[in-house]
Amino acid sequence: MQSKKIISRFFALDEEENARQIMVNWDKTSSQLPPLEKIEFIQDNFIRENAEKANISAPIIIQIIKQKKLLTKDAETLSFLWHCHQIINEGDNGREMAEAMPELENIPPESKGTFFILLAISGFPKAIVHWKDKGLPQNILLETYKDLNVWVEYYYREFNLIGIKKRALGWMQAHFNATLFKLGRLQFNVPRPFGNYLYILKDKKNNLRYLSAEGKKYNCNGLIDGVDDIWDEDGGWISTLKIDKNQITGNEINRKGYVEKNLTTFRLDDWKIILRPGDLVINIHIPAGEPLATDACRKSLSMANNFFAKYFSTKEHKAFVCYSWLLDSQLKGILKSDSNIIRFQKLGQIFPMSGTSDAIERIFGPHSTKDNIYSQTHQSSIQKTVAKFIDNGGILRNGGLIILRDIC
Ligand SMILES: CC(C)(COP(=O)(O)OP(=O)(O)OC[C@H]1O[C@@H](n2cnc3c(N)ncnc32)[C@H](O)[C@@H]1OP(=O)(O)O)[C@@H](O)C(=O)NCCC(=O)NCCS
Repeated sequence: MQSKKIISRFFALDEEENARQIMVNWDKTSSQLPPLEKIEFIQDNFIRENAEKANISAPIIIQIIKQKKLLTKDAETLSFLWHCHQIINEGDNGREMAEAMPELENIPPESKGTFFILLAISGFPKAIVHWKDKGLPQNILLETYKDLNVWVEYYYREFNLIGIKKRALGWMQAHFNATLFKLGRLQFNVPRPFGNYLYILKDKKNNLRYLSAEGKKYNCNGLIDGVDDIWDEDGGWISTLKIDKNQITGNEINRKGYVEKNLTTFRLDDWKIILRPGDLVINIHIPAGEPLATDACRKSLSMANNFFAKYFSTKEHKAFVCYSWLLDSQLKGILKSDSNIIRFQKLGQIFPMSGTSDAIERIFGPHSTKDNIYSQTHQSSIQKTVAKFIDNGGILRNGGLIILRDIC
């Protein structure tokens, strides 16, 4: 089968670059396509067994198998599915490959998402071997793998269909490659250098202060200028940070999560820099599902400290970092002070972030926008109060949270 034919069938015209990446080795994989009954990952038993481990419910598994039969009846779709399975699971770059997948032109909408589920499930046996080779615990892999069902549920809410998006396929590769772990309530990436956001100082009495990194542009409210496309009409201001052998001077991030324009100086006799950009930190992700109970989060952070100390001992992290719509400083005025989201914010220091918040979709459901939320009935307290907030002209933002490793 000609690679050109596959490209014109499944890739949109603007996916040329992705097609180049995905269709690598097409001649080899297509020539090695086994007979249908010999392709293990599309056998009903394989799907049933591995989907159950991902917590996918029996009625949904039946639908996956039904859609799989329709997909694999078509010779081009079968060859392409086999090829994608090979290229995603062959090397170490499964995540990049998954993200370069096409939007699957010319596959019926009710089967598209199943195509990606089949690919996600197909990687699980290899992940078991990979985790074993790395000496990583299988029970954590099993817990982590259940994230697939969270994506299946999300897709169902969004499209009323069975499936996952290609983005979720990429996310699952991070789990399989052992770069993302679910430990209790939260998910954690392997330690990475902290971006250019802030410095943390500590004094002898364990008081903490947070200073913005230098060269960041803030608006008159102490937020990143341009966040949610709102620009300071007077041009905003740029943060400074000066360190010499005696002192450090910079713009403090206050307890409410805003950056102060006035400069503050700390004597290095009294204050020590305990975290700076480039130090190793662990990114936290908050999967949907269970409430964000503070005890569960604390336990999860402590599990992460133990896990990373044991399995990634050469990459000692100094802190955890999270970036999310949940970390908007304005939520303190919107939610009750004992709500889980506010209590989560209080586990560390919040700081301003750029980017556009996906709060509206997260709170009111897929396809929600600030203009259509009034046509729905609002059930939870956050839906009611956020609707009022938006009605009064409010705009929700993203925020960051940094939690020092020692507090857990
Ligand atoms: C994170 C999450 C579990 C927090 O929920 P929670 O533990 O109930 O949080 P809170 O206690 O602060 O909630 C306060 C109120 O808001 C409601 N609420 C919280 N998150 C909500 C959401 N995403 N949609 C609708 N209502 C929500 C709660 O039900 C509660 O309502 P009530 O007072 O009427 O009982 C929840 O928002 C969620 O599942 N989000 C999806 C995952 C996500 O957004 N991750 C971050 C990605 S960057």
